[in-house]
Order: sequence, then structure tokens, then C-alpha cells
Amino acid sequence: MSILITGAAGFIGSNFVLQWLTHSQEPVVILDKLTYAGNPANLQSVWKDPRFTFVQGDIGDSQLVAQILNDHTPLAVVNFAAESHVDRSITGPAAFIESNVVGTFHLLEAVRAYWGGLEAERAAAFRFLHVSTDEVYGSLGPCDPAFTEETPFQPNSPYSASKASSDHLVRAYHHTYGLPVLTTNCSNNYGPFHFPEKLIPLVLLNALKGKPLPIYGDGSNVRDWLFVRDHCSAIERVLEAGKPGETYNIGGCNEKTNLQVVETLCAILDERSPRPDGRSYREQITFVKDRPGHDRRYAIDASKIERELGWKPAETFESGIRKTVVWYLENQEWVAGVTSGAYREWVEKQYGSQA
Ligand code: NAD
Ligand code: TYD
Repeated sequence: MSILITGAAGFIGSNFVLQWLTHSQEPVVILDKLTYAGNPANLQSVWKDPRFTFVQGDIGDSQLVAQILNDHTPLAVVNFAAESHVDRSITGPAAFIESNVVGTFHLLEAVRAYWGGLEAERAAAFRFLHVSTDEVYGSLGPCDPAFTEETPFQPNSPYSASKASSDHLVRAYHHTYGLPVLTTNCSNNYGPFHFPEKLIPLVLLNALKGKPLPIYGDGSNVRDWLFVRDHCSAIERVLEAGKPGETYNIGGCNEKTNLQVVETLCAILDERSPRPDGRSYREQITFVKDRPGHDRRYAIDASKIERELGWKPAETFESGIRKTVVWYLENQEWVAGVTSGAYREWVEKQYGSQA
């Protein structure tokens, strides 16, 4: 009884696979396009595991997806595959529509055809879990209550609009065709294998290189941070016990301004890897031009998943961020690969220029 995981060479998907294989004997099949964000080094430790199969390809390639489904007969599909960076969606939205909207549509079509051919018991047990974001709900004011599963969608960036579209498609495939879908909407993640275009790894790596730490606007925008392994354990729990057709918000009740996050990172680095001149990394903080349409605040009300499925995060922000800094300090080889572009060279050698 295998599981198909899309987008698992990226940040969250790779953490999910590594965590899954620590306790499950079921084979995992990965489908990943290996965009700039897909890094096979994230999966290096399980690459030769007999339970692990990697296929390079696009979720929008229905023929390929149909073939994988028929060959591996998974009992679940977990869809992490997406373009995920808001800033890139502002400069180049087309890829977001292609992967997140059109790609999800083709994936759903292939899954619907496969699921329709399963015998009754397997069809009833089958799950399609779609991994989404809290950004679909839009932006909160300082005193607004946190997002619940009933908060109306108000996406503000091409990224969040493309994710909201995919969430709607997933919902429609349950309502119209009865496909047993689950959707999770999670807050900002941080942790190992985070690609250094996002705030936390970018600041860590820039700090160590003596570069400026760019903070958009005045640094008062708020995000609700969750350690990536807690996100993965929540997804596992939803897969195991979530009710088909339902959506579940996932978050850790860790609202921080961007300035607080960056100052925390500087303080941990000052302690764990002090600057040669003895001064604080804080001195590298630089306020830069704000992101257009920058959402002010995200906050997740995760009471439904706690109440109905008994899930709670294991890490606080303080414990998770410390683990993250230590991971980056101890994994210099991964950092060097990701920053030198060596992993892109490997991808091109292995899969050709289409990757
Ligand atoms: P990521 O950018 O690190 O990884 C995305 C992965 O998907 C990459 O390996 C990439 O190669 C692959 N991919 C992209 N387009 C593809 C396609 N068309 N076909 C097959 N593979 C494709 O992203 P992430 O941060 O790991 O996010 C994973 C999912 O979780 C996304 O759907 C994202 O919207 C969602 N999410 C992310 C966060 C966060 O804080 N990072 C929070 C909530 C939800
Ligand atoms: P990011 O990691 O891009 O995640 P998202 O936009 O999906 O929330 O950004 C997190 C916050 O950090 C967001 O408010 C934008 C801000 N930010 C900066 O201030 N400087 C940066 O260089 C980056 C990449 C983000």
C-alpha cells in the first residue's frame, strides 16, 4: 500500500518523506518536477531506501501521473507540489497559474480516473490530501480574530490567489464527484531544508556571510510560525483521521513580527556562532523597500484540528527556531550546495535541461 507524494524534493515535502519513512513500511513514490526549489539533496538520506521511488515530472502531465498511479496503486496522494514564493509570484505569476491551478486540475483529473477504477473497499479508503496555506484567507488587522476554516477566502498575491483556486478545485472534486479529499491550510513554516529565498534561511545565511539582513518596510508585518516537523505530523494525522471533504487549519500560535524573528535569529547566532569582530549580527539589519501588496498579519486558529483530531504542535517558536539555527550551522555542505547552484548542475546532469 504505497503513497504518492508530489513536490517532495522541496522544503516541506522532503521533511514529510523523511519523517514518514522513520515509522512506516509502506513504499513512497515521489513525483517532483525539480524546479529551482526542488533539491534532491534534501532526500539524500533515503535515496537508496528500497521503499523509495523518485520520478521526475510535472503534476500537470496527466499521462505520467496516470502511469504512476496504475503502476504503484497508492492508497493516498499528498500534494505538496506548487510554486511557493510570494515575491516570485509578483515578478512572474504565470508559473503559479500553470503549476498551482492548471497542474492541480490535471492531477485531480488523473486521480479521479484512477480512484473511479478502484474496487469499493479501496476506493472508500483512498485519500487525496491537498497541502495549502493560510494566505488564501487574506490579511488581518492587528485586533482581528485568527483565521478559522470558515473565514472567507480573500487572497491578495498571485501566489495566494493560485493556491485559493487550487483549494476550490479540490473542494469541487469532492462535492461533484465524491473524491475523498482533505485540505490543510497551514501558517508559515520554518526548519531544515528551507530554501534560502524565504525570510528565515535568507537571514541566517546572509548573517553568516556578513551581508545585509533585508527587512521589508518597517518589519512590523506579522506571521504565525510553525516548525516544519509539526506541520508534517499534522498532515499525517489528517491523512489518518480527517473527514473527507473537510479542511483543517494548522498553526502553532506563534505570531511574531518580522523584526522579532530577525532579532531572535541574530541573538541565537551571536551566542552559537559569534561574529569575528565580537559585534552583534543585529548591526547587519537593513530596512528595504516593502513588497507590493504585503499582507499585514496572518494568524491561524488551529482549534478544529486539536479538538477533532487531537493534534498539537510539539515545538514552541523558541525551541523550533533554535533547532533550525543549529541545523543550518551543522549542515554547511547542504548550504554550500544550495547557494553554489551545485544542485542545479546535478539536476541538469541527471534529468536534462527540461528539469
Ligand atoms: P517549495 O517551493 O520548497 O517546494 C515545492 C516543490 O514542488 C519543489 O520540489 C518543486 O520542484 C515542486 N514542484 C513545483 N511545481 C511542480 C509541478 N508542476 N509538478 C511537480 N512538482 C512541482 O515549497 P514548500 O515550502 O515545501 O511548500 C510545499 C507546499 O506547502 C506548497 O503547496 C505550499 O503552497 C504549501 N505551504 C507552504 C508553506 C510554507 O511556509 N513554506 C506554508 C503553508 C503551505
Ligand atoms: P516569506 O518567507 O517570503 O513568506 P510569506 O511571504 O509567504 O509570508 O516572508 C515572510 C515575511 O518576511 C513576509 O512578511 C515578508 C518578509 N520578508 C522580509 O522582510 N525580507 C525578505 O527578504 C523576505 C524574503 C521576506
